[in-house]
Amino acid sequence: MSTDTKGKAGLEDVVATSSDICFIDGDRGVLSYCGYDIHDLAPSVSFEEVCYLLWHRRLPNRAELGDLQSQLAAARPVGEPMLRLMKSLPAVDGMDALRTLTSALAHYDAEAADTAPAAQYRKAVRLTAQLASLVATWGRLQAGGGPIAPDPALGHAANFLYMLTGNRPSPTAVRAFDTALVLHADHELNASTFAARVSAATLTDLYSAVVGAIGALKGPLHGGANADVMRLLLELGENAPMERVEEAIRQKLARKEKIPGFGHRVYHTEDPRATHLRKMSKELGAKSGQNSWYQMSERIEALVKADKKLNPNVDFYSASTYYALGIPIDLYTPIFAVSRISGWTAHVLEQYANNRLIRPRADYTGPTYPQRLVPLEQR
Ligand SMILES: CC(C)(COP(=O)(O)OP(=O)(O)OC[C@H]1O[C@@H](n2cnc3c(N)ncnc32)[C@H](O)[C@@H]1OP(=O)(O)O)[C@@H](O)C(=O)NCCC(=O)NCCS
Repeated sequence: MSTDTKGKAGLEDVVATSSDICFIDGDRGVLSYCGYDIHDLAPSVSFEEVCYLLWHRRLPNRAELGDLQSQLAAARPVGEPMLRLMKSLPAVDGMDALRTLTSALAHYDAEAADTAPAAQYRKAVRLTAQLASLVATWGRLQAGGGPIAPDPALGHAANFLYMLTGNRPSPTAVRAFDTALVLHADHELNASTFAARVSAATLTDLYSAVVGAIGALKGPLHGGANADVMRLLLELGENAPMERVEEAIRQKLARKEKIPGFGHRVYHTEDPRATHLRKMSKELGAKSGQNSWYQMSERIEALVKADKKLNPNVDFYSASTYYALGIPIDLYTPIFAVSRISGWTAHVLEQYANNRLIRPRADYTGPTYPQRLVPLEQR
């Protein structure tokens, strides 16, 4: 770690590790997974290909992809104990449910404590399959439906939508959702991935590292922002007159409130993921006959850019994209986890493979040393 980080708030620009997985150039708006530009990946590969890429640092051939798809399909069914636990939970926030359920998964995994690299890899595959099934089934139960068994013939994105709705999704919906999963899969040392790596560096188990990451992702400064964006749009109201939208955003900015879905620690230009999500939001909005959410989003983007010089991040247009796909708002951040589990596990496996405890220092700013210890009865 660099030595000039004393007191640097939020570890901004601090290089905390080296990694083969993800490269970002925040000035040029470049995001790449193992050297592949996100603009090339997003329109043309599946989430499963990205998982393979992140875990193996190369794209799979057809046979390797087929093997991974079979492994994911085999790991998708939700076990009876998990279903019972899910049904016993109160109607909590989706991320709180996912955190509890992911933690519980470890109790039913015979390899939970196995530290052999092959076992860690198998757990990464199982966690990726299970997180999608858990989120879809949770959403289904919250909507008052019964759980739907996965269909092994479907790919990851299609199966998620099927388990969530009970209906065969359209090719347009599958492609859009698959692209969203590809776009969210990894992002270098974002807060949740860093949390996962810090945990993994103590040589704790993969499940514990992932549960920590889920907790970090939930926050409104990280993955929680996508649900906040949709709540903001709904608060303004469908087909809200643009003057009303402008007035509300101006008031928020004047009150120094943060607008969810804007700003980024690393990008100083357009977040390349937002480029794709903006396009998807526009197309899906038009197709579903509900393009007012996209139009409002576009207006908000122009206002925040003009007033604050801030660009939309991955969360801004993912909100209206998921809304157009009919996904409940409570699942937006859990869906982020459904994708990011690929990146979290890739980073944790990388950490295990070349580990050293992550233990930085703090710049002490408390009372001077030494303080005289006053006995309790004299304080
Ligand atoms: C992403 C984020 C946490 C990055 O934080 P950061 O690098 O620590 O930047 P800061 O929070 O210090 O913001 C720097 C300045 O921009 C402003 N700013 C940042 N994001 C803003 C937003 N979304 N809306 C309005 N103002 C914002 C801050 O108020 C601050 O202004 P100031 O210097 O006048 O005090 C931050 O932009 C944010 O909170 N965004 C909203 C939540 C969000 O969308 N998160 C998802 C990230 S992918």
